[in-house]
Amino acid sequence: MSLKPVLIAQISDLHIKPPGVLAYGRVDTARALERCVATLSAFEPAPDFVVISGDLVDTPDVEEYDYLKRLLAPLRLPFAGIPGNHDSRELMRAAFPAGPYVRPAGPLDQKIEVGGLELLLLDSSVPGKPHGTLEASTLQWLDTTLAASTDRPALLFLHHPPFKGGIWHMDRQDLFNAEELARIVGRHPRAQLIACGHVHRAMLTTFAGIPVTICPAPNHAVDLDLGQLREPSFKVEPPAFHIHAWFPGVGFGQVVTHQVPIGQFDGPHPFFGPDGKLL
Ligand SMILES: [Fe+2]
Repeated sequence: MSLKPVLIAQISDLHIKPPGVLAYGRVDTARALERCVATLSAFEPAPDFVVISGDLVDTPDVEEYDYLKRLLAPLRLPFAGIPGNHDSRELMRAAFPAGPYVRPAGPLDQKIEVGGLELLLLDSSVPGKPHGTLEASTLQWLDTTLAASTDRPALLFLHHPPFKGGIWHMDRQDLFNAEELARIVGRHPRAQLIACGHVHRAMLTTFAGIPVTICPAPNHAVDLDLGQLREPSFKVEPPAFHIHAWFPGVGFGQVVTHQVPIGQFDGPHPFFGPDGKLL
């Protein structure tokens, strides 16, 4: 096991509005992203790459993508984004024209290689709809790309979770063709993790035999209503992001997902004094 794992940070659901406009009349998503970028920038060791897993802006419109780019400018780390249901493929491609997109139009799928890891970014957005679907071209590309190697671990990122987390109004807008994703993942053992967004809160389960995670948001969280008790609601809970740490080793090595709270907190303080004794 190497000293420093390969670190892939994931931030999600930024929902940037035009300057001065609050999301839902209440949430300052721009300030929330500034705090997120500050925490991410201060993290040591520095992550090797950052994936933004959808809903980069809110409406969407050009002004929001311009503002997003200004807010991300202090982030001195390489990053790539995939669209969520609040994004526009065309506006996102125009905002980030240098992305390694698989094709010149349509889904913004991307393959990014980072230190022996392959990141496969899948565009699950359906223009004008809140739910997700992986288009035939994306599924075909994923299958072909995964088949190109048998030993390099791959992490899959997409906005829409391929499972029902129990929050009724979000489960209605999850990934509609999850079984097609499961069939492909099941054929390729090198797929080690599926990392999603969309629900603005951390979740963890398994799907097609591998872990699947949802990354929390830097702003508001979807209310944890597991009993269909309330209308669709949000709460401003402690914000966070994920860091997926890959430790090379036997087989595909091991991926460990860490949740990092956004903000400044007391510490770190040593456990042991100068005499080596526990304080
Ligand atoms: Fe979303």
